[in-house]
Amino acid sequence: MELPEQVTIKEVGPRDGLQNEKEEIPTDQKVAWIEKLANTGLSYIEITSFVHPKWIPQLKDAVEVAKRVNKKENMTIAALVPNMKGLERALEADIDEVSIFMSVSETHNKKNINKSIEETYPILNEVVREAKLANKSVRGYISTAFGCPYEGQVEEQQLVKVCNNLFEMDIDELSIGDTIGVANPLQVSSVLKKLERYFPKDQLALHFHDTRGLALANTLAALQLGFHTFDSAAGGLGGCPYAKGASGNVATDDLNYMLQSLGIHTGVDQAKLLEATSYIQEMIDRPLPSKQMQILSRS
Ligand code: HMG
Ligand code: MG
Repeated sequence: MELPEQVTIKEVGPRDGLQNEKEEIPTDQKVAWIEKLANTGLSYIEITSFVHPKWIPQLKDAVEVAKRVNKKENMTIAALVPNMKGLERALEADIDEVSIFMSVSETHNKKNINKSIEETYPILNEVVREAKLANKSVRGYISTAFGCPYEGQVEEQQLVKVCNNLFEMDIDELSIGDTIGVANPLQVSSVLKKLERYFPKDQLALHFHDTRGLALANTLAALQLGFHTFDSAAGGLGGCPYAKGASGNVATDDLNYMLQSLGIHTGVDQAKLLEATSYIQEMIDRPLPSKQMQILSRS
């Protein structure tokens, strides 16, 4: 079996994870946690989100978090940006990478960002253009790529069309999201074989939620096709508050364990990762779903 020698793990816990927690974590604790994550060897952390604080109050301290985090060399600090108001805040906070996002399905797009798909393109286009002028790299997210909580099945051709429109804006990478964890490995192979016909594999990442326990199986399906960039959240935190039934991302600790046991280099120290994950588990005061954290709690 051909697998990549090296994989980049993009940690989204401080954003995808904390946006889905009921309790707001104090800014000091967020900053401390992000710095612990940075010390594990992770090269990329999505630290927060410059969305409307009324929509996601848990991340209303986005500018302060970004300003206070001690940036490590060779590490990218990213955050979600939905529109120009968000970009203004992101530039004030001087993050490295701007992450724009939209959905393949009309209903989730509307519920998540209050716009139709057609209304979203010009807004994102302007964000990308202005972010590039400010020398920021731009990542795109495409949500509900494998299924929508409101519309069910998503047509592959519709996915290709939305991805194409985003790549035409000159984004640097596109993360393909299984927002509600409905994908299975055969579907992942089918969708990725289609996407790699149109777009450079090196610019595609995968963002699997583990709602139904298939995120690692889906990761393996993508690895077998040579994909080598994966998003994950420490401990399996995560979920989109505007996608009914969505739950945690694939856990960074489970993903890192699987990759390293397959002999794939990630650069992430598993022991330090578990320490960082234990810290946030204590802060949110409930057991996290990852298998690695469950093993730790029994030892
Ligand atoms: P809206 O209410 O339609 O915004 O929200 P608007 O453009 O009509 O503006 C209304 C007011 O909000 C204005 O203020 C704006 O200035 C202000 P007023 O003039 O009335 O005083 N405003 C803002 N303030 C601060 N920051 C901003 C901002 N934008 C407008 N950025 C909006 C539209 C997109 C802002 C809203 O719908 C929103 O914030 N949505 C975010 C929802 C969200 O964060 N969802 C979760 C993240 S996506 C996800 O989890 C999926 C992913 O993980 C991948 C996957 O798993 O598939 C990425
Ligand atoms: Mg997500």
